[in-house]
Amino acid sequence: MSLKQSVSLLQCKNGVNSIKQRASSWWSGVQMGPPDAILGVTEAFKRDTNPNKINLGVGAYRDDNGKPYILSCVRKAEAQIKENNLDKEYAPIAGIAEFCKRSIELALGEGSDVLVNGLNATVQGISGTGSLRIGGAFLNGFFPGNKTIYLPSPSWGNHTPIFKHSGLEVKSYRYYDPKTCGLDFQGALDDISLIPEKSIILLHACAHNPTGVDPTKEQWLELSNVIKKKNLFVFFDMAYQGFATGSVDNDAFAVRHFVKEGHRIALAQSFAKNMGLYGERAGAFSIIANDKQEADKVMSQIKILIRPLYSNPPINGARIVAQILSDPNLRNEWLPEVKGMADRIISVRTQLRENLKKEGSSHNWEHITNQIGMFCFTGMKPDQVEKLTKEHSVYLTKDGRISMAGVTSKNVEYLAHAMHQATK
Ligand SMILES: Cc1ncc(COP(=O)(O)O)c(C=O)c1O
Repeated sequence: MSLKQSVSLLQCKNGVNSIKQRASSWWSGVQMGPPDAILGVTEAFKRDTNPNKINLGVGAYRDDNGKPYILSCVRKAEAQIKENNLDKEYAPIAGIAEFCKRSIELALGEGSDVLVNGLNATVQGISGTGSLRIGGAFLNGFFPGNKTIYLPSPSWGNHTPIFKHSGLEVKSYRYYDPKTCGLDFQGALDDISLIPEKSIILLHACAHNPTGVDPTKEQWLELSNVIKKKNLFVFFDMAYQGFATGSVDNDAFAVRHFVKEGHRIALAQSFAKNMGLYGERAGAFSIIANDKQEADKVMSQIKILIRPLYSNPPINGARIVAQILSDPNLRNEWLPEVKGMADRIISVRTQLRENLKKEGSSHNWEHITNQIGMFCFTGMKPDQVEKLTKEHSVYLTKDGRISMAGVTSKNVEYLAHAMHQATK
């Protein structure tokens, strides 16, 4: 009997439905997972019919009309790429070479000793997330010390899953002080001094997410010394270069200082925020090695990790980034555009504080302007957040974090009024 005949015989005996039922039962043991904390906020926002509703959950830049913003240098780079009539062949496993070269140069600064001596192993990653994940995989496979990564508390919500998924153990060190809504610098130093030697520590290079709290330059110098003394390996996550202060050089201060001080770091970079390339997934992962031979060996192993994961990265975003960073005209157009985004955010921070004062709020809201970057950790408690959402249709994550990028000159008064009502 042929296969076809036996299948139809089976269908006659059992009825077609029983076959369907058996096929669907493979996954009957799968439980419903919880919705993503941030995307869940957007879903609730979309269902709300209040015309004054505000979504401050999602971490994507909006212009002063609340609209997604495409940088003009990106549009021009796209047009130039189109003119060049490039093919759609696969990128190499490590990604587009020009992109890798320009990315690490942006992080370390032109003429950096590391670049001159070829000490970096840099690959294109799938934006910041994918670059962190490749880093996690490399550290899990090859880190010669304690395979535990210490994250600031709190940290970006995806850090723990990324590093656990990579096979690393995840622990934390004190970072944020809820009493001051600022940095718990002494707490951080005390906790770091207790981390076992030869462990991994993750540092947000600038615009710490979710708190918006960064160390000062002096504090970075001290952190570098303490971390060096403890012989810890530093993994920098730089997802916001340029987005914090408006200067790509200023925002790279910590990374460049650590490298200058001899730390051999790992670095994840993202171009999602500073070029507005969220969906293009352009990022980079680098290891700074001791010498060129070591860098080459590290590179060979990173490529071996990438190959079975996704084979090679997407080409479009990386081409845009490479074009902007290598063409002096486009680069000169990009730098003020990043600054424009950073400045708008800094300006709505001031406006929010002023409007809270106008409302008559007696709380100390200084931290709104002290914090930096995309997010503000308002210090609002879960019940206040709930009030803000239920009574005023202002959507944010339960930890009281607001994306400043969603605040505009048009909605800031309404927001301040709502925040005052919810916290008075
Ligand atoms: C601290 C931090 N790291 C990494 C990322 C990665 O972002 P992406 O994968 O979109 O580049 C983000 C994005 O929100 C972030 O805030």
